[in-house]
Amino acid sequence: MNIYQNRISLVQKKLMEGEALLLFASSHQTKNRDVEYKFRQDSDFYYLTGINESDGILFLTEKTSAIFTLPKIKEREIWTGIRLGNKKAKKELNLEFGFDTTEWKEKSFELLKNIHTLFYFYGKNLERDKEILSIIENLNQRSRNGEFGPEKIQLPNFLHEMRLIKSDEEIDLILESAKITAEGHMALFKETKVGMYEYELESILDREYLSSGCWGGGYGHIVAAGKNACVLHYTSNNSQIKKDELILVDSGAEKNYYTADVTRVFPSSKKFTSPQKDIYELVLDVQKKAISYVTTGTEFFEIHKKTVYNLIEGLKSLKLLKGSVDKIFEKEDYKKFYMHKTGHWLGMDVHDVGKYFIDGKSRKLENGMITTIEPGLYFDPTDKSIPKHFRGIGIRIEDDILVNEKKPINLTFMIPKEISEIESLRS
Ligand code: GLY
Ligand code: MN
Ligand code: MN
Repeated sequence: MNIYQNRISLVQKKLMEGEALLLFASSHQTKNRDVEYKFRQDSDFYYLTGINESDGILFLTEKTSAIFTLPKIKEREIWTGIRLGNKKAKKELNLEFGFDTTEWKEKSFELLKNIHTLFYFYGKNLERDKEILSIIENLNQRSRNGEFGPEKIQLPNFLHEMRLIKSDEEIDLILESAKITAEGHMALFKETKVGMYEYELESILDREYLSSGCWGGGYGHIVAAGKNACVLHYTSNNSQIKKDELILVDSGAEKNYYTADVTRVFPSSKKFTSPQKDIYELVLDVQKKAISYVTTGTEFFEIHKKTVYNLIEGLKSLKLLKGSVDKIFEKEDYKKFYMHKTGHWLGMDVHDVGKYFIDGKSRKLENGMITTIEPGLYFDPTDKSIPKHFRGIGIRIEDDILVNEKKPINLTFMIPKEISEIESLRS
């Protein structure tokens, strides 16, 4: 059994009689007029099929299985490339049926007939949602023949629970993406010069990722010089780099459908200035502590809470916050400087799937989960209540941590973050 056959069979074991899973592949997205964005398969569809062709459909019940793929039409293949074809797809995945996507409408009635619960990711594609509802309505109108359509449509969250716990093979894939990510960040430490534009740094990341066979970044590269670092999802990347600025780079390579997610901050000049150093050291110290909290059995939210407490302590020692730590936490006064969470699941999607809370309680970490750890501090450049030398500084340090029985494993350990290492790379 290959990994996809194995995952499909695990899903089939979870399905009871009368239940079915229906998954759609991604379609090409228009960029402008007749130009399309570069294709990226839907993560769930890829997780179960390993197929990176658009518009496919996977249907599974405990007993039956069917894959629909684009029809092999010579004229189309000349324009857009060889298509997998349903025969090959069916064989590779060891499924019962293989059909062309053109047969979906007709076959859908047969497949969904007498299914009472349909597991389907509704809400992602409204056209598909409408199509499913219309199939169900159609089936219900045939009730006199003893046929019925699904009474319940449910999100297949069990698939996301599967994806949340990474196998050894998946961990190796993320490690590979992490290594390429390291090459990108290392190149920036070495090649960045005052006077360059942020987009030149972005192009260096692309160069490193694409030349190693990546799809590209797992998300848009954030290259933020100076006060741009205070914009959390800054993507304009078009400012010129000035001397004595910090540059925040949040970027991760995606290879084989797995992404890393790493943030590093370095000075545009050879050394950090003294206020930059103060904040950097604080964040780095808090980040290392936060990584140490990533242990099996720890409640995920605890990591954030403890990290906020540590940041508050640091901000108090810099006289940026006053009063009792508990009060500051309760009143959320720290949010002026730290407005995001400390981490998120990571995998095929940068903000990967899987629940954070179960029955209203923060879930406990389990072996094989991967979370980012990414505390930061941001000082609004326009806020006069902040001492001038801190205004406009934005620092986040982010690594990808595997939860393991013995101790947290930092998958992005190879990317330097100590001030001494960074300064030596900068000179
Ligand atoms: N790169 C997005 C994030 O760090 O969550
Ligand atoms: Mn992140
Ligand atoms: Mn990030």
